[in-house]
Amino acid sequence: MSRYFPTVSNFLVPHLASLLKMEIAPMVDQIEFHPGWTQDDTVALCQNNKILVEAWSPLGHGKLLEHPILVEIGKNHGKSSAQIMIRYALQKDVLPLPKSTNKKRIASNLDVFDFELNPDEMRRIDSIQNEAFSGSNPSTVTF
Ligand SMILES: NC(=O)c1ccc[n+]([C@@H]2O[C@H](COP(=O)([O-])OP(=O)(O)OC[C@H]3O[C@@H](n4cnc5c(N)ncnc54)[C@H](OP(=O)(O)O)[C@@H]3O)[C@@H](O)[C@H]2O)c1
Repeated sequence: MSRYFPTVSNFLVPHLASLLKMEIAPMVDQIEFHPGWTQDDTVALCQNNKILVEAWSPLGHGKLLEHPILVEIGKNHGKSSAQIMIRYALQKDVLPLPKSTNKKRIASNLDVFDFELNPDEMRRIDSIQNEAFSGSNPSTVTF
């Protein structure tokens, strides 16, 4: 069994394409992922190569909490918009990493395993496009 469990962060398609030529492929890629910024091409490449996608800022840095589509779907399930976004990531086979400094919100962010978003709800969330992007692009960022 391999002793290596390589994890990368913010590797998008061009970066992964180079890495996938190496002997050891990454097992995890942590990227920005939330409604409005789902980076489908990177997620597909990862999932086709058995790389777990972790979602940073799965709540869109908190900027999507009042989004009307998410609030409405949440009401249908008796859940918050945050719980809807976390469930959305899970149903995309993406592991969400929500951050909260509040004990109650941390607990509620875990309470997402007693309901399921139906295909129509998933499509409605997919229709949220180009929202809450952090602006961080690893190909252009300056250090
Ligand atoms: N790998 C990378 O390059 C990278 C880049 C950015 C971030 N990250 C990591 O990703 C994680 C999350 O990112 P993030 O903090 O930018 O965004 P996020 O998890 O999308 O959103 C966090 C915001 O949502 C609020 N929140 C959390 N749960 C809530 C709930 N149930 N109801 C209402 N508000 C809620 C938080 O406020 P409260 O604290 O007040 O609850 C906070 O303002 C962090 O651990 C961060 O380190 C990684």
